[in-house]
Amino acid sequence: MIYVTRREVFSSAHRLYNPELSDEENEEIFDKCNNYHGHGHNYVLEVVVAGEVNPKTGYVIDLKKLKKIIHEHVVVKLDHKHLNYDVDFMKGIIPTAENIAVAIWNQLLDRINEGELYSIKLYETENNYVEYKGG
Ligand code: NI
Repeated sequence: MIYVTRREVFSSAHRLYNPELSDEENEEIFDKCNNYHGHGHNYVLEVVVAGEVNPKTGYVIDLKKLKKIIHEHVVVKLDHKHLNYDVDFMKGIIPTAENIAVAIWNQLLDRINEGELYSIKLYETENNYVEYKGG
């Protein structure tokens, strides 16, 4: 099994806020991330595809194809957007790194047909990242 990784960056705004909770509870849970007009991050995304090397191509997946899939279905939709308002596949989801990673996984899962999607790693800051492996 070989693991192939494509790294991408995008910049997005978000506000951590649960509409089912009171303003006080939101403030308590999300603190400054609850800032009314949001704030931004430069996200770093790592998409890992696992598989065996195709003897015909020498690839698990052609990274040019993987790049194109990630761009079209993730980066273009998230970059320079407000995650609470602008992104169809984030509607109604609190845009924490955890939830963004799961949403990205769901965007990509059925679109990767060579090898299989193994993990999504999403860095929200240099020191904080989440990793999702499905399930
Ligand atoms: Ni934030």
